[in-house]
Amino acid sequence: MPPISPIFPGPASLLVLGIETSCDETGIALYHTDRGLIGQALHSQVDLHAVYGGVVPEMASRDHVRRIIPLIRNALTEANANLSDLSAIAYTAGPGLAGALLVGASVASAMAMGLGVPAIPIHHLEGHLLSPMLSATPPTFPFVALLVSGGHTQLMRVTQIGTYELLGETLDDAAGEAFDKAAQMLGFGYPGGPALSALASGGTPGQFTLPRPMMKSANLDFSFAGLKTAVLTRIGDRTLSASEKADLAAEFEQAVVEILVGKSRAALAKTGIRDLVVAGGVGANRPLRKALDQAGTEGRFNVHYPTLELCTDNGAMIAYTGARRLAQGLPFRNALAFEVRPRWDLASITT
Ligand code: KG4
Ligand code: ZN
Repeated sequence: MPPISPIFPGPASLLVLGIETSCDETGIALYHTDRGLIGQALHSQVDLHAVYGGVVPEMASRDHVRRIIPLIRNALTEANANLSDLSAIAYTAGPGLAGALLVGASVASAMAMGLGVPAIPIHHLEGHLLSPMLSATPPTFPFVALLVSGGHTQLMRVTQIGTYELLGETLDDAAGEAFDKAAQMLGFGYPGGPALSALASGGTPGQFTLPRPMMKSANLDFSFAGLKTAVLTRIGDRTLSASEKADLAAEFEQAVVEILVGKSRAALAKTGIRDLVVAGGVGANRPLRKALDQAGTEGRFNVHYPTLELCTDNGAMIAYTGARRLAQGLPFRNALAFEVRPRWDLASITT
């Protein structure tokens, strides 16, 4: 992987190991404050869970245990670095699956203790929303972040690292969850978002009509449960033909895209901010990117995305966030006192 140019000047060169184990990806990365991302290793458990139609927490934890040390070795080899070169170890402390988080937290804390370096607990969503900073044209503060993953759909105002104000969020299902559930209704396994999107590319929106819940509401909240139910109602007890399935998928995707674009525009108008950062797995959706780019051209705002491989869970976003927090001297807990927080509001973290 080509090294990415320096993103921020620090007091001294730092090398941070990032560990992500909040759900079904074991993500490891090494971020150097002068040289950028110099090592990455990732193992996705998608195949392991697909047969069950969703993530099985106990199986996820056990697989993280199996993979984590070999992946750390791989990332160090790619970076041509040794454990003794590390300045700190950053790990995802939440939100996520408790057992899965504990694997990363305990490995990070044990390594940090052994090496005599800090262990830095990182909020998973902070990692996601800072991931576009690893792109060639990083956004500058302040920006509005649209976080769209399998578990979260939120709009945040980001004034600086560590200062996050919740502007609006989903009242029920997350956008990725709605994609996955609609995909399941159309016969796809877990996670169905990318498969539904591929099917939609061959269909025509408007052949079926689906609602745009809360599109016109005065606030910046979202709701996707009704849209998901509407898909189920349209299918009813019929067996859809291949082209009908594609049309229904296309209408569903268009509804989600219109809602996400509409609410993002409203958040930018409300805050007066002209930069939008899109992060989380659904940020990989191509029609969403196209519609946001078009809205940005029309509304004269800039849209920033992580690279496609950094949209979904990865260690790079955790290593980068840890490096920024360390370089800025932001407080974090002692390595001996690690904890994980399966439920954790991003807006509640303080600098
Ligand atoms: O951020 P992420 O990797 O994991 C969570 O923290 O949840 O997001 C995973 C979600 C899944 O719901 C998946 O179906 C969805 O992102 N996703 C997509 C696409 N790629 C991933 N949804 C729609 N279109 C895509 N291309
Ligand atoms: Zn995620």
